[in-house]
Amino acid sequence: MNPLHVGLLGIGTVGGGAFTVLTRNAAEISRRAGRPIHITVVADKNLELARSITGGACRVTDDAFAVVKDPAIDVVVELIGGTGIAKELVLQAIERGKHVVTANKALLAVHGNEIFAAAQKKGVMVAFEAAVAGGIPIIKALREGLAANHIKWVAGIINGTTNFILSEMRDKGLSFAEALKEAQALGYAEADPTFDIEGVDAAHKATLIAAIAFGIPIQFDKAYVEGITRLEAIDLKYAGQLGYRVKLLGIARRRADGVELRVHPVLIPAKRLLANVEGAMNAVLVYADAVGATLYYGKGAGAEPTASAVIADLVDIARAAAIDPDNRVPHLAFQPDQLHDLPILPIVEAETACYLRLKVADKPGVLADVTRILADQEISIDALLQREPEEGEGETDVIVLTHRCKEKQADAAIRKIEALTAVIGKVTRLRLEDLQ
Ligand code: HSE
Repeated sequence: MNPLHVGLLGIGTVGGGAFTVLTRNAAEISRRAGRPIHITVVADKNLELARSITGGACRVTDDAFAVVKDPAIDVVVELIGGTGIAKELVLQAIERGKHVVTANKALLAVHGNEIFAAAQKKGVMVAFEAAVAGGIPIIKALREGLAANHIKWVAGIINGTTNFILSEMRDKGLSFAEALKEAQALGYAEADPTFDIEGVDAAHKATLIAAIAFGIPIQFDKAYVEGITRLEAIDLKYAGQLGYRVKLLGIARRRADGVELRVHPVLIPAKRLLANVEGAMNAVLVYADAVGATLYYGKGAGAEPTASAVIADLVDIARAAAIDPDNRVPHLAFQPDQLHDLPILPIVEAETACYLRLKVADKPGVLADVTRILADQEISIDALLQREPEEGEGETDVIVLTHRCKEKQADAAIRKIEALTAVIGKVTRLRLEDLQ
């Protein structure tokens, strides 16, 4: 049987994992694929590393463009990352009629429409299971397993670094900065963890999820992105007292008037399975009309978990390469001429319940003023918690949980609450989702 010849671009953590797993499970994988999958050449700037991992089992080069041009290569696996050279390599591979596998969520979230259009034109596959939630086969589930359904919403813990930080803040009462240091010491966070902690990495993934769940173009620039850097340990504590946990979620929700696409910290009921996803694990909850809720859990990063997704894509390509391109599973789940122009809604139109924490002077009438402002904005209160002030303290924290309202109603109420003389400083607002 003619092997599938793979050119691997980048043999870092995931590339090394792919090499190891493909070698270890070669027989099992080829029984599934119907033909052997061979890594024929590896390109990496670090030739010594590439040689030490491959041990002479394949060619090694430091010229990734030579791999893309190599007529012996059927599939290019791009594991370089970023949106610079990786984009050039992917587009050149497509132009030369090669299939592509990539784990690069930033590249697809920003340039995916262009890349998939080019692939469509050339009749090649661009597979990206590893780009979203690492080893969890969420792309496969959304694109194929749930194909009967009208998908309503998806909510996921899709960044392991931030989930680890939040778990540490809650368990040990650490500040954000302390928990980040711990994540860095354990090697979870990148040396520059900005994309993780500012929610950008999760937003790249949520953008791809929204596209394949609802059949809309990829629109990262319209996503609302808020990370966890401003979270305070005190809010995790109050959330806990009220029966909630705080998670950084990527949310894609389809409404009649548009799509909510947002990443931000969220209070979710502690009894939900998603609330109990701890440490660096990922999980994605999908709500669809026929099947109801389904939950996908696993490792969102790491050498072999991510390699598992990369190799599953290679198996798909080995099986489908000979199929007429029009009869393959579409890149974005829906036929390319059937995408909707449903708009991505601005965050002010999003509907969520809210957690509000205010520091107030402990005197009569303050709560009455706050509740009147909320009532004026037609925001209904779900729960109220007031910390008992220390002896002689004179001020205290009030926590208000609201029912669902539009973001702009909450914004207006918060502005008015902050203008009250008895309210000290800014109101802390977190969004709350009960995920039912
Ligand atoms: N940096 C990501 C995370 C892993 O922390 O989940 C790769 O997407």
